[in-house]
Amino acid sequence: MNFNIIAYTDNYETKVLDLLSSLFKKRYTSEYLRSNLSNRYILLEGNTVVGFLEFLTVLDSGEILMIAVDRKYQGMGLGKMLIEFALRMMKDKGVKEVYLDVFVENDKAVNFYRNYGFEVVLIRRGYYSDGGDAFLMRKRI
Ligand SMILES: CC(C)(COP(=O)(O)OP(=O)(O)OC[C@H]1O[C@@H](n2cnc3c(N)ncnc32)[C@H](O)[C@@H]1OP(=O)(O)O)[C@@H](O)C(=O)NCCC(=O)NCCS
Repeated sequence: MNFNIIAYTDNYETKVLDLLSSLFKKRYTSEYLRSNLSNRYILLEGNTVVGFLEFLTVLDSGEILMIAVDRKYQGMGLGKMLIEFALRMMKDKGVKEVYLDVFVENDKAVNFYRNYGFEVVLIRRGYYSDGGDAFLMRKRI
């Protein structure tokens, strides 16, 4: 299989929203993809969207807003491909510290981020709209 990471464009809006809606309870609408503040990428196999990445950089800080891999494609090293891409892009922009928030009960994602050297800095109580708590995690790069 041949996978490529490319910059997100509006042509992929429906496919990305479908992917996110299949992975998270929250409904994602096109508004979510409209802000121009973040950097967004998609992971393609042919013309099929199998992953999505979103991050922000501000001076020497970076924030991973989303890493998502289609369930059928998880466990194949694609999350690794996306996070390594994100960390490399941020480093090239001069980022020294990367942050992210993750739902405290999302063990798979917490372990995934730990695997790449992220450490829990604090718990953000009631961070999510449904009242769920988040771990704020950080990695120096
Ligand atoms: C978290 C997620 C991105 C991981 O993607 P993935 O493609 O399944 O992960 P990979 O196959 O690339 O695995 C990468 C590494 O993480 C490790 N890993 C993956 N899942 C793991 C788990 N449940 N526990 C421990 N380690 C795990 C793998 O062993 C691998 O380690 P290695 O590089 O040392 O071999 C994916 O599960 C996902 O999209 N989840 C739903 C969306 C989500 O919750 N995103 C995070 C919040 S924004």
